[in-house]
Amino acid sequence: MAVARRLLGAAVVFTVCLIPALTVDRSNFKTCDQSSFCQRQRRLQPGLSSYRAALGSAKLSSDKLEVQLIDDKNQASLLLEVYGLVGNMTRIKINEINPLKPRYEVPDVLVGTPLPTNLQVTGQDDNTLELSLGETGHKLLVTGTPFRLDILSGQDLVLSVNSRGLLHFEHLRERKDTDTEKKDVPAETDEENPEEVESDKEEESKKPEVDEPGMWDETFKTHTDSKPNGPSSVGLDFSLPGFENVYGIPEHADNMKLRTTEGTDPYRLYNLDVFQYELYNTMALYGSVPLLLAHNVKRTLGIFWLNAAETWVDISSNIAGKTLFGKMLQYMQGGGETPQTDVRWMSESGIIDVFLLLGPSPFDIFKQYASLTGTQALPPYFSLGYHQCRWNYNDEEDVRNVDAGFDEYDLPYDVIWLDIEHADGKRYFTWDPHKFPNPRDMLSGLKEKRRKMVAIVDPHIKIDSGYRVHNEIRAQNLYIKTKDGSDYEGWCWPGSAAYPDFTNPEMRKWWASMFSYDKYEGSMDNLFVWNDMNEPSVFNGPEVTMHKDALHWGGWEHRDVHNLYGLYVQRATTEGLIQRSGGKERPFVLTRAFFAGSQRYGAVWTGDNAAEWDHLKISIPMCLSLSLVGISFCGADVGGFFKSPETELLVRWYQAGAYQPFFRAHAHLDTPRREPWLHGDDNMAVIRDVLRQRYTLLPFWYTLFYKALSEGEPVMRPLWVEFPSDVSTFAMDSQYMLGSALLVRPVTEAKARGVQVYLPGDGEVWYDVHSYQRYEAPQTFYLPVTMNSIPVYQRGGSIIPRKDRPRRTSDCMQDDPFTLYVALNLQGEARGELFLDDGHSFNYEQNEFLFREFNYSQGKLTASSLDPSGVFKTPSWIERIVIIGATKPSSITLSLQGGSESSLEFEYDQSTSVITVRKPGVNIASDFTVSLR
Ligand code: GLC
Repeated sequence: MAVARRLLGAAVVFTVCLIPALTVDRSNFKTCDQSSFCQRQRRLQPGLSSYRAALGSAKLSSDKLEVQLIDDKNQASLLLEVYGLVGNMTRIKINEINPLKPRYEVPDVLVGTPLPTNLQVTGQDDNTLELSLGETGHKLLVTGTPFRLDILSGQDLVLSVNSRGLLHFEHLRERKDTDTEKKDVPAETDEENPEEVESDKEEESKKPEVDEPGMWDETFKTHTDSKPNGPSSVGLDFSLPGFENVYGIPEHADNMKLRTTEGTDPYRLYNLDVFQYELYNTMALYGSVPLLLAHNVKRTLGIFWLNAAETWVDISSNIAGKTLFGKMLQYMQGGGETPQTDVRWMSESGIIDVFLLLGPSPFDIFKQYASLTGTQALPPYFSLGYHQCRWNYNDEEDVRNVDAGFDEYDLPYDVIWLDIEHADGKRYFTWDPHKFPNPRDMLSGLKEKRRKMVAIVDPHIKIDSGYRVHNEIRAQNLYIKTKDGSDYEGWCWPGSAAYPDFTNPEMRKWWASMFSYDKYEGSMDNLFVWNDMNEPSVFNGPEVTMHKDALHWGGWEHRDVHNLYGLYVQRATTEGLIQRSGGKERPFVLTRAFFAGSQRYGAVWTGDNAAEWDHLKISIPMCLSLSLVGISFCGADVGGFFKSPETELLVRWYQAGAYQPFFRAHAHLDTPRREPWLHGDDNMAVIRDVLRQRYTLLPFWYTLFYKALSEGEPVMRPLWVEFPSDVSTFAMDSQYMLGSALLVRPVTEAKARGVQVYLPGDGEVWYDVHSYQRYEAPQTFYLPVTMNSIPVYQRGGSIIPRKDRPRRTSDCMQDDPFTLYVALNLQGEARGELFLDDGHSFNYEQNEFLFREFNYSQGKLTASSLDPSGVFKTPSWIERIVIIGATKPSSITLSLQGGSESSLEFEYDQSTSVITVRKPGVNIASDFTVSLR
């Protein structure tokens, strides 16, 4: 049924029905074998590289080394450029020296030109050039024949490039022969037999370049890709000696720790609208971030492959001692069986432009990557609250009723969402005149309650000569074109639609202007935006997306820019929301498709999941993988999009979602209604409790987002980021950290009576946030659970500011007082931070903020400013201080700066070792000391 609606678009009239068990139709999506470049690249087996670096051609300038790479097979020359970059990074670019036409280099992702450091030649022999990479003591060895690069830190080999000889660069060429069918396809090589592989490889290298099927055109199902530029793929391998754990390269519905892909398809990065996606596989999904992280007890590394074309990533793991490379490694390092991970990147077009992030700590990697692609935009405060969405809230009355339901049942929420049915015939920027005749009244009603609305604005535009948006884009010639130059048309929600070329700055400018209040009629300042279908989704296109030979601004093929499209859509929308307020207000835009750098523009969700326990479970690794690559504002549809969740699953999903960064319930049009009050009083009470937990912690969430903005630190993070030498955490993705202070282990199993919890950290203590029960770490234990349980632990040594008076909306809580939760470590110490501003404007950039620090040591809690440049006035004061893991004091006094001292009332609970200090009464902005005696 749902499939049918997709195919027929708006024309279909549907009835409510239940969707059968979910399975993706795999035949809609290519395997590596069906993607001809992937097949060609992957056919090349490890062995000696056919490339040699002509060291005689090396040119060293102040910021880079240039060397020619010669492929003995075809005598085509490539140019290798190596840059040492400030902040312990190295950039490697490889491009053709004289391509037939320019090859695509990804624009608009890097936030600036990365700063170079001085490279210096520190040694040289016939076949090797040794360079020092700036101040960090790393060395780069360039080997001439066969070409490879090795990065060393002292005596340690950190990473090698092309050590498996998989550099494969298809240079642009004229088509020689159109009769491709007759050509021989080189035989498959035998991976099991390395010697045979070697001789096959030599054989292959002697063959002249032949055209083969798939090189000059490629047909998948009913679609033919015309490939006017012929084969243009690039591929390269990286070896990581000593690493067994690699992460990142979202988006996949898979565990956080990446699997090896020997015998399966590589991980695919190609933004796709995958209907009813399945879990635990390497298939592509809606977004792509080509950043891979590797971690071991000694160091963390990152490989950022800056390419926006279809990309596949192979991961293999072996014991280094058994491979050719391993023999060299053994020689260099003196033996031993070193575990090693090999990573191979293959992209359909563009150039090789790769950043090696050398860490060495996880937080160094986050900083390094942030310096390249920017940090998470600071979300407006309200957007960290709870979002109520479904496809669809039917009309204004429906919106009013749902909104009133939250008040009636005393459930906090901030935002109600409208899906595609709100627009007039899926003409975005308009309202259905019958269902939503008075959008401003509706928005004003919400505004009175200090609530917001989000409406969907998709990037496909209904082809309709009566639709102003369509007419204006067409008149300005800003649609994506087919290979023949006409406007590209595809089928999507509105039926026949055209696709604005968001890669064109003019298009983005025009799109942004559409969000001004006069152009987007019916909109108001409490209306925000949701960009969906921006992979782009084309129901009748190849793999449900756009033809790769469609043409963009500058003459680039869709092939080159595909994975960037969604980023540009969200960027233009974000810019529009900023502009409509005259540059004053922070935007909120949710996107489904994304790329490296999308963190700068807002939030991401994991698309069309299902009301199944495994989908609840996978939401954690999916968001962790995004967090590791800079995208912190992530969430999954609470309750599951497809199908109807049983009540237990829904409740558990609320509990898990409340502890994920973006917290929105959403549901498919065909599913029964599921607002929190439709599941019985007991369940609603649990959901109320969950929502309140979320709201009390908003100051903490907001502070974490400030750290994401200012330092590039992920909000939600894998345990290994906080406990980098604890190997037992390296593959753990059923529990995670929020900042460095909270550990969350959501219950994601049906009928759970208990869960296993692991609390890490040698010599650390943790406290159950609900009961204050104390645990010494490291330990694994079985925690019995009930339907009310959300296992969350505060780390000893941390201080968390909370607002413990949950109200209707986050905005209503703006001036409320704080409670500080001080959890002592074994040394009797703790530390925490709090960021605070008006929650909605860019004034924090003009120093209108507070960044406070709380320190507890030797019986004294001191509050001071972490950034004295920030000044912000707030009536919020501290109403309570809860000190966990403490002994009973005889008195507690408060001293303010300037000398006044007063004694404070407190209670001590012997059974939990908790002191509750009543009403310190100081403003959150003031410096003070609370002393326990
Ligand atoms: C897509 C979105 C989903 C939305 C639907 C209708 O499937 O992923 O969230 O409800 O389109 O707009």
